[in-house]
Amino acid sequence: MPTSVKRCQALQHKLIIPPPRLQQREAIVKHAVSKLLLTEAEDPSTRVEGLARQVANATAGYVARDISNLCRQAVLRSLRGSPTGYAENDSKELMERLEKLVLHFEDSLQTTQPSQQLEFESIRPAKRWADVGGYESVKQVLQRFMRLATSETPLRLGIKPPSGILLYGPSGCGKTAMALAMIGESTCNVMNIRGSELFSKYLGETEARLRRLFQAARAAAPCIVFIDEVDSIAAKREWSSIESGGPALRVLSTLLNEMDGVHDTSGVAVVGCTNQLDKIDDAIVRPGRFDKLVEILLPSADDRTGILQVLAQKSPLSSDVDIDTLSKVTEGYSGAALEKLFREAGLAALRSSRDAATLSMDDFDTALARMHI
Ligand SMILES: Nc1ncnc2c1ncn2[C@@H]1O[C@H](COP(=O)(O)OP(=O)(O)OP(=O)(O)O)[C@@H](O)[C@H]1O
Ligand SMILES: [Mg+2]
Repeated sequence: MPTSVKRCQALQHKLIIPPPRLQQREAIVKHAVSKLLLTEAEDPSTRVEGLARQVANATAGYVARDISNLCRQAVLRSLRGSPTGYAENDSKELMERLEKLVLHFEDSLQTTQPSQQLEFESIRPAKRWADVGGYESVKQVLQRFMRLATSETPLRLGIKPPSGILLYGPSGCGKTAMALAMIGESTCNVMNIRGSELFSKYLGETEARLRRLFQAARAAAPCIVFIDEVDSIAAKREWSSIESGGPALRVLSTLLNEMDGVHDTSGVAVVGCTNQLDKIDDAIVRPGRFDKLVEILLPSADDRTGILQVLAQKSPLSSDVDIDTLSKVTEGYSGAALEKLFREAGLAALRSSRDAATLSMDDFDTALARMHI
């Protein structure tokens, strides 16, 4: 808006309308669906409520217009191919249409994007806890953090919710996967960015982007800011060489400032991942910024069993494969290495027979011989 307009006294009040929260999205879906289905009937109302909750959960970051577009699209899809003579007050038919609508919402969600998602990925990841095997105690820590950080009711005893959690540990151990599952399972908004993507070659642009990221998150609170590969924007001060020191330092201090701001405003929490904790500046892991550090190490035998079970859901195993045995012989393998083992075994199975449907122990033996761990 031109500053001359802002300066004139005609517009004295500024009202910020943030993107809708979960309950608000639910109300918008309910309203839009009822209007589109032309129904005030009693019967389908509980079904509409269930549907509204489901859609609201999946549409973090969507604004009211996006949600009503999505509803229109789903209703239109569900109408396709149905008989035109539709009796308005026939509640049986309405129920059938609602059932169909649930399916069409899933399709429509795949093809629509929230309009606010201009700069930062704000779609909730599709990963769920069921996609992450093993690491039960780590999962519990992350679930507890998420509950505290996104609770909309103020915590008792004057304790502020945690402002950030940093997952660190060797590469391939599932840090990103767990962070995505943690966010995917929550119902709050999300801003998702990689440290390396945030970097811009233009002077001052990276800092500006960081500020816009946190600004957007505050407007969408409760919101999780997920920064993968934090090390690329929060390197230790002595690690940045003299010539690149200037910009890197400014980015670091912007991040520190913004994270302090997070501590003061509730409803925003930062989740970070790194495989180079030693390269990260100490100030960033101070309490009040990333106040919880979680180390994710190579999986134990039990964790490997869990991961293998998850992997086996996608690639069926033949009866001669024993997961416990596989877990024993894969000591030192990370989650990523186990995934590669399955891929190699799959390739071996396809080499022996083009229409192989399961992975046999022979395939795993071939794959194990090919792995260099
Ligand atoms: N516990 C696990 N259960 C299922 N899959 C896993 C697990 N751990 C890792 N994986 C799989 O291994 C791959 C690599 O994991 P991920 O990207 O999360 O590792 P990372 O710790 O973030 O590594 P980096 O530090 O290099 O970013 C992913 O495809 C992920 O799905
Ligand atoms: Mg990662």
